[in-house]
Amino acid sequence: MEIKYCLKPAAERRQEQFRPEGNVGFGRLRTDHMFLMDYYDGEWRDPRIVPYGPFELAPGAMALHYGQSIFEGAKAFMHDDGEIYAFRINKNAERLNRSADILCIPNIPEADQQQAIQALLDVDRLWFPMQDGACLYIRPFIFATEDRLSVSPSNRYTFCVVVSPSGAYYGKDLSAIRLLISKKYHRAVPGGTGASKASGNYAASLRAGRAAAEAGASQVLYLDSTNTYLEEAGAMNHFHILKDGTVVIPEFTDTILRSITSQSIIELAPTLGCDVRQETIKLDDFIADIEAGEIVEAGGFGTAAVVSPVGSYIFEDGRVVTVADGQVGDSVKRIYDTYTAIQKGHHEAPAGWLQKVPHLEK
Ligand SMILES: Cc1ncc(COP(=O)(O)O)c(C=O)c1O
Repeated sequence: MEIKYCLKPAAERRQEQFRPEGNVGFGRLRTDHMFLMDYYDGEWRDPRIVPYGPFELAPGAMALHYGQSIFEGAKAFMHDDGEIYAFRINKNAERLNRSADILCIPNIPEADQQQAIQALLDVDRLWFPMQDGACLYIRPFIFATEDRLSVSPSNRYTFCVVVSPSGAYYGKDLSAIRLLISKKYHRAVPGGTGASKASGNYAASLRAGRAAAEAGASQVLYLDSTNTYLEEAGAMNHFHILKDGTVVIPEFTDTILRSITSQSIIELAPTLGCDVRQETIKLDDFIADIEAGEIVEAGGFGTAAVVSPVGSYIFEDGRVVTVADGQVGDSVKRIYDTYTAIQKGHHEAPAGWLQKVPHLEK
């Protein structure tokens, strides 16, 4: 794919490495540029890097009305050699196409998606924030742009990638959260869109998130639609850890997103020195095992936080179940430390996990 560069004048671009004072937060800032590519007449066309800015969009654009819109989330890191490394973006490219299939959106070759991300990271590399735990958060997304008011797949789309310089997710230490076990709200049903990163899934989760906040919880532990099995922890895969150190993640189904963090933890099991397995987990067994002390840690896996430890669960009737002493456990800390060390280049990464962003001719 040949990418066209329409960059900001040099004087208007970041001139030197970004050295912010204080944590820049997550997802708030943008870099100078974005990547764009359009689909029409049956082909993806005109790949280009342009200044970050608003789209021109028809009021009848189908994404606005029927929600044909999907996205991804990935991270890139600066290593001690001063180079930028993108973490497992091949997996994000694969998953974007899986979401595209579910939402009837045309695929983009995985190699082209990765090239787009790398080219944009290259152009805006000076935006990497020089602070502990920082990253460039990468947000690729596709949305339907055809101006037509009928419920059917659009004939026109835009693929865009934006990058957000982001700070450490945690302050000094990991902190444990509480999850609301909801039997009222569900995230996904069999045959639905739960295994995709469809924008509408996240709009549909806001009400449940609000109920969680009202119950004093950070997020919802979603159950399957029969309220029998554990599914997801908000926008993270759920996991728990047994007394012998085994990590257990719900089996991927069409109601659970295939978390790249979970897949990575599964692949890292030998390095972590523990078993990692996936199975269907009954809520009743899960609660009984916490109360019996068989389950000693729990949490969520996802790109944003990597690991989010769960200290307790609250039911909609106010009953609270605390995991062990409710604090952050040693296994969770070890997983977090190993994973983040790999991302930062301080621990050997499995082959292909980190792509060094090339310095390209522009
Ligand atoms: C619903 C849902 N589950 C799980 C995850 C975690 O996936 P990943 O580890 O690829 O970020 C995410 C975030 O992308 C999500 O939105």
